[in-house]
Amino acid sequence: MIDWTDRHCRRFHRAISQHTWLYTEMITTGALVYGDRNRFLAFNEEEHPVAFQIGGSDPEHLAACAKWIEQAGYDELNLNVGCPSERVQKGSFGACLMAEPDLVADCVKAMRDACSIDVTVKHRIGLDYDESETMLYEFVGKVSEAGCNTFIVHARNAVLKGLSPKENRDIPPLRYEVVKRLKQHFPHLQIILNGGITTVDAIKSHLDWADGCMIGREAYSNPWLLAQFDEVIGQPTDTRTRFNVIDELRAYADQELRKGESIRNITKSWLGLFHGQPGGRLYRQVLSDSTLLKANNWQVVEDALAKMLKHAA
Ligand SMILES: Cc1cc2nc3c(=O)[nH]c(=O)nc-3n(C[C@H](O)[C@H](O)[C@H](O)COP(=O)(O)O)c2cc1C
Repeated sequence: MIDWTDRHCRRFHRAISQHTWLYTEMITTGALVYGDRNRFLAFNEEEHPVAFQIGGSDPEHLAACAKWIEQAGYDELNLNVGCPSERVQKGSFGACLMAEPDLVADCVKAMRDACSIDVTVKHRIGLDYDESETMLYEFVGKVSEAGCNTFIVHARNAVLKGLSPKENRDIPPLRYEVVKRLKQHFPHLQIILNGGITTVDAIKSHLDWADGCMIGREAYSNPWLLAQFDEVIGQPTDTRTRFNVIDELRAYADQELRKGESIRNITKSWLGLFHGQPGGRLYRQVLSDSTLLKANNWQVVEDALAKMLKHAA
């Protein structure tokens, strides 16, 4: 998720769940071809398994990017066909590509030919107010023939004109039954369900038919949800507490601070760690206090924990 799942966030999530598959923010082909490529490709070794999400629609550029992404060590390459923003539409990629299955198939083929990691696609169930499933089946059919076996499906249409990206994540209704029918139609493909999933119970019930669930906003605002994921996917790991997670990340934070990163950026994704816990709001308040963050050191984390514990005592 853009501006959210940066490498600090992913390192943090990995300290909570050892086996959940993590995804980068969408990075465009333009950023890798013309920008500071090494910066965009950087990730921490601990993040594995980690997928790189790319945005673009030029098969040649995508092929070049696929090579760099594989060389950098990512485990999966995911093409974004779900983002509805105007800026992305102007660049002719994201959700508008659902109407161009042949082009997406060419893109997937170009990436598959250029790298040996899995190439997957994240998309919507339809465009605008069209509730027929014809476009969806044609899209998944053609793109799978080009070599994509895994589809991450945000169970909402994307409305290309008139709704902001935020509204596009809330207003078009969630239609899980459409994704379920898609799985029945293409039983040999991996169909991962996304959109509106916020509890472990919901995940377990979707996993009766879906091959996986992708969690977006709830994973960010309530990251401790991830603590149950290893068990849900049958790979239970050692029991740990929220405090263990912070202890583990202390060395990481020190190392990043020495490299010149700010404590604000490092800990931004930690704000929700004590969501719903006694004193959790105080922890969040202290950890987002601009004056305290200015000192740019670990003390703000200690202060946040101390204030929360004092409140809870
Ligand atoms: C701040 C923000 C940034 C996002 N950026 C991306 C992105 O870069 N790529 C992507 O595929 N989806 C992105 N999304 C959409 C989510 O991945 C997800 O599909 C959507 O929020 C629905 O799932 P959820 O209800 O679990 O959040 C973003 C969502 C938010 C809130």
